[in-house]
Amino acid sequence: ARRHRIAVIPGDGIGKETVPEGLRVLDAAARRFGFELDLAHYDWSCETYAQTGRMMPEDGLDRLRESDSIFLGAVGWPGVPDHVSLWGLLIPIRRVFDQYVNLRPCRLLPGARTPLADRTPAEIDFYVVRENTEGEYSSSGGRMFAGTEREFVTQDAVFTRVGVDRVLKYAFDLAMTRPRKKLTSATKSNGITFTMPYWDERFAEMAKRYPEVKTDQFHIDILCAHFVQHPDWFDVVVGSNLFGDILSDLGPAVAGSIGIAPSANINPEKKHPSMFEPVHGSAPDIAGKWICNPIGQIWSGAMMLEHLGEKDAADAILKAIEDLLAEGGPRTRDMGGNAGTVDVGKALAEAVARG
Ligand code: NAD
Ligand code: IPM
Ligand code: MN
Repeated sequence: ARRHRIAVIPGDGIGKETVPEGLRVLDAAARRFGFELDLAHYDWSCETYAQTGRMMPEDGLDRLRESDSIFLGAVGWPGVPDHVSLWGLLIPIRRVFDQYVNLRPCRLLPGARTPLADRTPAEIDFYVVRENTEGEYSSSGGRMFAGTEREFVTQDAVFTRVGVDRVLKYAFDLAMTRPRKKLTSATKSNGITFTMPYWDERFAEMAKRYPEVKTDQFHIDILCAHFVQHPDWFDVVVGSNLFGDILSDLGPAVAGSIGIAPSANINPEKKHPSMFEPVHGSAPDIAGKWICNPIGQIWSGAMMLEHLGEKDAADAILKAIEDLLAEGGPRTRDMGGNAGTVDVGKALAEAVARG
């Protein structure tokens, strides 16, 4: 049988609740579609940090390198500063494995309730393509004259030609696969005078290679407004690391809940493992109650299977999610229901098994 090696990192908070449900559904898909998942479990988290002073062991990345994909829950917990926990686990994985595309679909699924009046599923169906290895998240800069009146801090945003071009190319290629063939660029070239005009320049250059793709661009501020007022304008939206981060929480919010939003941190060349995780974080406010929505994790699992070449299994999971919501199946509180995390996971696993 086909075999895929998966490194599993539940991480912190609700990651420990969503990942088992993600695995439950992946297991059902593997049985039905005849492949095997070879799981390696890693309990790396803020608890590991408390015990060892590290988020993952020194050879952590080498262990992950042996997998085909990484399935992650969420990272971050009160008590460990976020920049320590995230830069000790999530961000190094994205950067070392060159997962330079962060693909984040935003869809109003039939049966889900959007806070926007009168919007239908056909009107909210777009992707955010987020640059994932450089930009505003570069580790260049620092603190000078610490503790004195002259103290200052800098953080450089680094935009390389290779880094910008490759994520733009991915976004144009994705737009070509979509019926509307439309690509929107998130910019801020009126206020950020070096990196954003450069981004626009590279976008215009890349657009010449894709005459069939309809392009437009908006400054990030009004783009946020348009996400709320005109979500139907968008098909594929490409943005820098920070702009993509912001848009990919806003997009799912207009589509009903951050709890269903999946993400794929992709190394398109498949030289390194890619990582699949929900868009949301560890949700300390609801963790431990088993009421969180596992759909973002489960949908991320579907994106993982598609990346691994198991397209039929991926489609079956997505169809199970769509049917569950459309047919009034169990749903968690964020979607107006009162089901628990496990109820939703079990219902989806059964639906996938049944076909
Ligand atoms: P968050 O996404 O964890 O939570 C924001 C809000 O959304 C909370 O009210 C939470 O209850 C709700 N929510 C999130 N996921 C949900 C789900 N599946 N079902 C129902 N409700 C859900 O964001 P935050 O509070 O800003 O961050 C908490 C911690 O997670 C921080 O340490 C942060 O750095 C970290 N974080 C990690 C990731 C990641 O691992 N990729 C992403 C975002 C935040
Ligand atoms: C995300 C998260 C992370 C990010 C944080 C936790 C560092 O918000 O995956 O969207 O900003 O990339
Ligand atoms: Mn985010």
